[in-house]
Amino acid sequence: DQDSSIYKKIDCIHFGGFEIDTWYAAPYPEEYNKHKVLHICEYCLRYFSSSFVMKRHSLKCPLNHPPGNEIYRDVNNRLAVFEVDGRKNVLYCQNLCLLSKLFLNSKTLYFDVQPFVFYILTEIDSQNNYHFVGYFSKEKLSSTNYNLSCILTLPIYQRNGYGNFLIDFSYLLSRMEFRVGTPEKPLSNFGLLSYRSYWKTALAYRIKQIMIDSEIFTKTYQILKENKQITENNFKVLENYKYQNPLLKLTIQDLSNTSGMTPSDVIYTLENLNGLMKDPITGKYAIKINISKINGVINKYEQKGYVRVDPDLLLWKPLI
Ligand code: COA
Ligand code: NA
Repeated sequence: DQDSSIYKKIDCIHFGGFEIDTWYAAPYPEEYNKHKVLHICEYCLRYFSSSFVMKRHSLKCPLNHPPGNEIYRDVNNRLAVFEVDGRKNVLYCQNLCLLSKLFLNSKTLYFDVQPFVFYILTEIDSQNNYHFVGYFSKEKLSSTNYNLSCILTLPIYQRNGYGNFLIDFSYLLSRMEFRVGTPEKPLSNFGLLSYRSYWKTALAYRIKQIMIDSEIFTKTYQILKENKQITENNFKVLENYKYQNPLLKLTIQDLSNTSGMTPSDVIYTLENLNGLMKDPITGKYAIKINISKINGVINKYEQKGYVRVDPDLLLWKPLI
């Protein structure tokens, strides 16, 4: 990789009491890049070349959480999300981009952070310190429908569902904006694996919910129909009502609107769920629901016991 070969590789970082091996080189200033170990403050993300300077910094660093606004707090699971504006906290966001470059092979931005907003996921400890877990960035005014630019879970926290949490959070923000979104391309291999896994689970949950709604609908319909007090006229209304059944009307557009996913990401995911059927005559696609497949995806996910985003815990309004 050309980009990485320009810089010497820092072998590992000391970060919040952890030693973390790096994956790629990052354009830290030469005097830091010439060392094998980089010491990074887990709160302000400033970096130091020796543990001595790091310790001295720790004594006076005023932060015990990321800068910006806390927009989400899950008291039970002890998680919080902070929104950091690239314009207001330039240095923090630049340091964040440098840190994430250590785990990203692609060229990413480091210095032009102002057009972006950064969402930082933290774990809250018993002393109420907020430990950096991961983040995603998002363009403030995207002319495209990108709702996520870059995503990182620190390696020590990976494969615990936090990537899934951050992706879900990005879609929650899109739904709050009444928009659909998709991640900026190209995705890394791990990025693509994570999105495929997220999309599959997210759509399975949407479809399941629609199935439940439809079951409630059918039962209500039957109870009303069996009710002897219903007049002939009411019965007609009821028959029309039958075609309001959410399952009968399920479209790609519905799934897109309720999930925040773009129609093309919905189609791609339905294909992976074997959820599309091509009409041999018209050539048009129809949604085919395989209940056991849907239940299988959901059960598999729930067995993992990962923390999920609770939309009720979000304290946030879209910028515009
Ligand atoms: N190998 C195989 N599957 C993987 C994987 C890996 N290394 N990482 C993620 N997946 C898949 C799995 O299906 C996983 O679910 P599982 O662990 O329950 O099997 C699913 O994606 C989601 O994993 P999750 O734990 O929610 O994600 P994460 O917290 O590990 O974070 C990334 C995922 C992509 C954010 C993380 O790998 C990362 O930071 N990578 C470096 C930066 C990067 O490439 N970012 C994306 C491009 S901008
Ligand atoms: Na795991």
